Amino acid sequence: MASLIVYYTQSGNTEKVAEYIKGFTGGDLLRIGPTEAPGKTPEERMKANRVIMEDFKNGKLPEICGVPENLDKYDTIYIGSPNWGNTAVPWIFAFTAKYDFTGKKVAVFCTHGTRGGYKVFADIEATCKNAEAFIPGFGCYSQVMDEKTETEVKFWLQGNGLIESERR
Ligand SMILES: Cc1cc2nc3c(=O)[nH]c(=O)nc-3n(C[C@H](O)[C@H](O)[C@H](O)COP(=O)(O)O)c2cc1C
Repeated sequence: MASLIVYYTQSGNTEKVAEYIKGFTGGDLLRIGPTEAPGKTPEERMKANRVIMEDFKNGKLPEICGVPENLDKYDTIYIGSPNWGNTAVPWIFAFTAKYDFTGKKVAVFCTHGTRGGYKVFADIEATCKNAEAFIPGFGCYSQVMDEKTETEVKFWLQGNGLIESERR
């Protein structure tokens, strides 16, 4: 069976981890985001994001585009988000809310500034209805992302039986 690597990125860090996962697993990559371009300048983007975050705090999820009708052909779903305000971004919750995860393994990953990913993992997992199993999440401090990150991703995948370990 196949895997899906779904992620949101604004400045490219989470995308880098998603691409490493794809490199090791061969899964399908799916970048999700808003249905409308959030603005041309950083100021416009910040304003658009502020509106979405405000709506999110009030319980409204944003529209997302380009997502599959269902997850039938996948058995493992990797879900990646930056840490925004100590949780995942609203578009990721809009994605998880759309599906039933019966029979799926869910593996969450997160890139973050100072605060770590644990709450992000828990918050995403709590929204994956009926998931069969949760793989311990992979968190990555964005300021120290370098060539070692790819190896850490590999060890995470191997350590959790998601790819084969190399034989000596
Ligand atoms: C709006 C916003 C809110 C953020 N909030 C947090 C936070 O609460 N804790 C944290 O550790 N990092 C925070 N960050 C830093 C991002 O999580 C970090 O830079 C991440 O790697 C960005 O991922 P991306 O390059 O895939 O967009 C925030 C960044 C943005 C833009």
